[in-house]
Amino acid sequence: MCGIVGYVGAEQCTPILVDGLRRLEYRGYDSAGLAVHTSSGLEVIRAVGKLTNLEKELGKHPLVGTTGIGHTRWATHGRPSEANAHPHVAGDIAVVHNGIIENHAAIRRELQSKGVKFASDTDTEIVAHLIEETQKQQKGSLEDAVRGALQRVHGAYAIAVLSRKTPGEIVVAKDQAPMVIGLGSGAMYAASDIAALLAYTRDVLFLEDGEVATLTRESVRVTTLAGAVVKRAAKRIDWSVTQAEKGGYKHFMLKEIFEQPRALEDTLRGRLDLGSGDIVGEEIGMTPEIAKSITRVYFVACGTSAHAASAGRYWVEQLARIPSTLEIGSEVRYRDPVFTPTDLVVAVSQSGETADTLAAVKAAKAQGARVLAVANVLDSAIPRIADASLYTHAGPEIGVASTKCFTTQLAALLMLAVYLGKRRGALSDEASHRIVDALSHVPVQMRQVLSDADLVKEIAKRYIKAQNMLFLGRGTGYPIALEGALKVKEISYVHAEGYAAGEMKHGPIALIDAEMPVVVICPRDAHYEKVLSNMQEVRAREGDVIAVCTAGDTEVRRIVGGDGYAGGVAGNESVIEIPEAIPEVLPLLTVIPMQLIAYYMADLKGTDVDQPRNLAKTVTVE
Ligand code: AGP
Repeated sequence: MCGIVGYVGAEQCTPILVDGLRRLEYRGYDSAGLAVHTSSGLEVIRAVGKLTNLEKELGKHPLVGTTGIGHTRWATHGRPSEANAHPHVAGDIAVVHNGIIENHAAIRRELQSKGVKFASDTDTEIVAHLIEETQKQQKGSLEDAVRGALQRVHGAYAIAVLSRKTPGEIVVAKDQAPMVIGLGSGAMYAASDIAALLAYTRDVLFLEDGEVATLTRESVRVTTLAGAVVKRAAKRIDWSVTQAEKGGYKHFMLKEIFEQPRALEDTLRGRLDLGSGDIVGEEIGMTPEIAKSITRVYFVACGTSAHAASAGRYWVEQLARIPSTLEIGSEVRYRDPVFTPTDLVVAVSQSGETADTLAAVKAAKAQGARVLAVANVLDSAIPRIADASLYTHAGPEIGVASTKCFTTQLAALLMLAVYLGKRRGALSDEASHRIVDALSHVPVQMRQVLSDADLVKEIAKRYIKAQNMLFLGRGTGYPIALEGALKVKEISYVHAEGYAAGEMKHGPIALIDAEMPVVVICPRDAHYEKVLSNMQEVRAREGDVIAVCTAGDTEVRRIVGGDGYAGGVAGNESVIEIPEAIPEVLPLLTVIPMQLIAYYMADLKGTDVDQPRNLAKTVTVE
């Protein structure tokens, strides 16, 4: 997730572009850059790190001109560096890009075989070269060259393009990544989202997937990739800048919860081979021989990432049949653990910087174990010392309480388990086909779960006075119960415990009475009958059950609400449904109601949802 801005008008563009990028820094901040039509042609300035570094460079080398594009980067391909910062230039063309080009490696090889030299490791640079090549061959307009180049790429993109040959013109295009055009008076703007535009205009055109637009001072022309002209009325936006940064949501956390289908699509992009039912896992960095030689998978992580790792452990054992353990980073580092060269240590960390996880990884490396990082931040400390990294590509997560990073970690770990299972001969083709196919449907199913947010809000309303909560689950429902309890603790400051449902009668059942809300994760899987029994035990002690179950489960409704209960919010009972899915992907769906319960409880209590007390987003101290 990166931020793009563009301006064409009568005023100096640099301050407008920098101001727009500042509004978009929440979308990415590892490097930034501008390309501007100046009197000497097309000039580019880029800098690593936050926007202030770019501003310092611009102070030394001012870019004077009235047409330009800018970018703030969240690295996905190629580490954060000046060479990998956008804009990328090829001949007369400068490009900024947000998204992931899936077939970049094949196109790069093809262009290199024709003698094209690359200056960066990014997927974006191929777009600049393709546009340059197409323009040379077709000798048409910049818009035609962009259209021609985009016919060749697969993946997600929003791009803004300048050509040295056509000053006063910006071409933008998009597919599965946002791009909005701002309509000014004698000026046009482009941006990844409207937060960057609102200081200048409130009249906008949202570009749709597969559309291209040419912006000049006086006009905007929108066409499809095939060249058909698109007529679309402008919309007037009333949001404040702060509202716009949060996409209209009240908090970043809520925005990030709703972003999960899109984030997951980015995690899965280019990694699922639906034809063969396999995982495209070059990044995992393992030959089939190495995969076969692993004798133990050792997960290390902290907090929410440890809950994802816990689900990963279940999957690696079930699907790849490799003995697996999970330990939290702060324990491993002082336990003097034994690692062996045939151990695969999987370090799960959103930030890639968590001190305890990093220390555990260093201990594992020192003893010769192979380390795979599952991280969201490219080139962060843990990926830098790992042997390989499987990035989650969720985009920056601003809310301290992790949500979209958790679900994308789950997806990455499930893909890892399938990858290992296939290579070790532990997982049949039929089974891997089934999982790969099911994963591809999860983004749509997540949208279905999210459409029930209002129901969850009604349920949450009833518990804002609760002092304690219990979350129960079995199998991979257990890490989801832990995650539900952690979310409630973190942001609503209510004491909550996650328990393996089978452990309830070994102690926590003593706590259950009419004052104790109990969230039970009970989708139809191998543990279903047993979880139903646990739910009945809670009901028998007048515990107030909130059930998360498979759509149409009348048995759960009967237990939760008594015979004749129709579901929804009625009296003290509640049932939240998730779509029918195979057991392996259920945690990606059942966790969404957990996040929403925590969010709405916290919001209704009026806590600081995005920056809860005493917590930091990245814990780089012990
Ligand atoms: C999640 O909501 C928390 N903020 C916290 O538990 C977090 O998951 C933990 O600190 C680990 O962070 P990491 O994923 O960046 O390593």
